[in-house]
Amino acid sequence: MPFQNSSSWTRKQKLILTGVVVVLLGTMTVFVVLGLLRVGRKKTPTAEEQQWKGRGTTEHLVEIVLGRCYNFITTINSELRNKDCLRVWKLFEQAFLYKDPCSMTKEDYQPLMDLARYSIPCNKSLFWSKTYDLAHHYTKTNHDFLTLEDTLLGYIADGITWCGNPSDSGVNYESCPKWTECENNPSSVYWKLASKMFAETSCGTVQVMLNGSTATGAFRKSSIFGSVEIVNLNPEKVSKMQIWLMHDIGGLQS
Ligand SMILES: *[C@@H]1O[C@H](CO)[C@@H](O)[C@H](O)[C@H]1NC(C)=O
Ligand SMILES: *[C@@H]1O[C@H](CO)[C@@H](O)[C@H](O)[C@H]1NC(C)=O
Repeated sequence: MPFQNSSSWTRKQKLILTGVVVVLLGTMTVFVVLGLLRVGRKKTPTAEEQQWKGRGTTEHLVEIVLGRCYNFITTINSELRNKDCLRVWKLFEQAFLYKDPCSMTKEDYQPLMDLARYSIPCNKSLFWSKTYDLAHHYTKTNHDFLTLEDTLLGYIADGITWCGNPSDSGVNYESCPKWTECENNPSSVYWKLASKMFAETSCGTVQVMLNGSTATGAFRKSSIFGSVEIVNLNPEKVSKMQIWLMHDIGGLQS
């Protein structure tokens, strides 16, 4: 009897030993695989090299742009219900996907600009500079006026970031260049083109809401309004410009 007992112990011990060896081998395999993956990742330096200073591409970009487009043509301006939102997204994506985010051109966006073009009723355009919150609160409750962000192109891109990456998935979710890093980045080029188009299509009396409480002065030649919009207003269509100089209560008066 003790003999049998001792032999069954050895068998148990053998089993435990085998188990330990299997677990150890398994762990080693995991480490080796992880090590290989790390080495593999280090071979693509572009992702690490291209660390821009701005926020990376907004997560769920496709859902946001598509959703906003359908919302716009369905509930905000149903005159545009025949616009093809899938195509809007495709052209938006094609403009920057896999591209160097510092070498964007207006040609990249031209197909999208052409597709999204539509006419804005006269006397409705409201331009703004450094008065983002106030101007948009205003047009949200007063539908007599429209800002760029109340048009299709402005609406789909408001508050989001996007830029390409020549490698990997074609999109850089980590970082995107700021305006100070390079002027021809995807957002700057887009907003300049959309602003230009908004100005060109404006007619009748146009409104401008400026900030009288900024240290740099209400009108800045370097702003989008000063450098893009005002120079693209068509004098044959725009008869009058009304300037609203807004001062913060208790703020600077420049
Ligand atoms: C725009 O305003 C002008 C006068 O300010 C007016 O004569 C014209 O009829 C208006 N146009 C539209 C489309 O409302
Ligand atoms: C004017 O600009 C200042 C500083 O940028 C800002 O704090 C303020 O909210 C702006 N005022 C309006 C009316 O937008």
